[in-house]
Amino acid sequence: MMEINTLIKDNPSFHVWGDGSPANFGVSNAVVQAIQSKLKPQSITLETGSGKSTFAFLLKGCQHISIAPDPGEGDRIKQYCIKNGLSINYTFIAESSAKVLPSLITTIPSLDFVFIDGAHRYPFAEIDYHFTEQKLKVGGYMVIDDVHMPSVKQLYRFLKKEKNWILDELVGNTAFFIKTGEEILVNDWQNQGINEYFLHYSNWRFKMISFIKAILGKK
Ligand SMILES: C[S@@+](CC[C@H](N)C(=O)[O-])C[C@H]1O[C@@H](n2cnc3c(N)ncnc32)[C@H](O)[C@@H]1O
Repeated sequence: MMEINTLIKDNPSFHVWGDGSPANFGVSNAVVQAIQSKLKPQSITLETGSGKSTFAFLLKGCQHISIAPDPGEGDRIKQYCIKNGLSINYTFIAESSAKVLPSLITTIPSLDFVFIDGAHRYPFAEIDYHFTEQKLKVGGYMVIDDVHMPSVKQLYRFLKKEKNWILDELVGNTAFFIKTGEEILVNDWQNQGINEYFLHYSNWRFKMISFIKAILGKK
């Protein structure tokens, strides 16, 4: 049976640079171990991007989906599993997450764990979040990598202020959020923590303007 230490020792290259030479954009060992520590066997899991992190899920026996545009990544991951005698319940979807998630998500009954580490340009992390959180169970994990990047940070700030998410752990620049309930919408944006100050400010501004108009006798 393959162990996580085999992967850490081998440090295989699942990615490629633009010229086709091998590359390794993998998450840190600490992130792989943190993901593993929060997973239950047979969990239904999905990640955008693929590579070293994929093995956190496969080694736990999860029913796992990776979405990444390069089919070579999927081939290399499967080859590495065969080489190490690892039997897997794995679907690799060779497509951009923004393209496939809107339809794919309608076919998935529920998710226990989501890892967002696909395209890092704005607004990919938010697109990946938007579609996957709809199927994430209450109590499930939404994990976002590279939250220090400006194109990802806004999602991190948003979730930190939401009432139905708690930040369980930050491992380096990888944020582990737990979903504590479904989002409760009140007239669209008003109930979102990120808008709280704006809501009070706009109410206060509205009252002030109404008051001044009343004094001036204007409608
Ligand atoms: C930083 S790497 C992910 C590293 C991976 N988590 C690991 O531990 O090895 C970024 C990943 O995003 C994928 N990617 C790039 N554009 C994408 C897109 N539009 N949709 C989904 N994944 C994308 C790349 O193919 C690559 O697998």
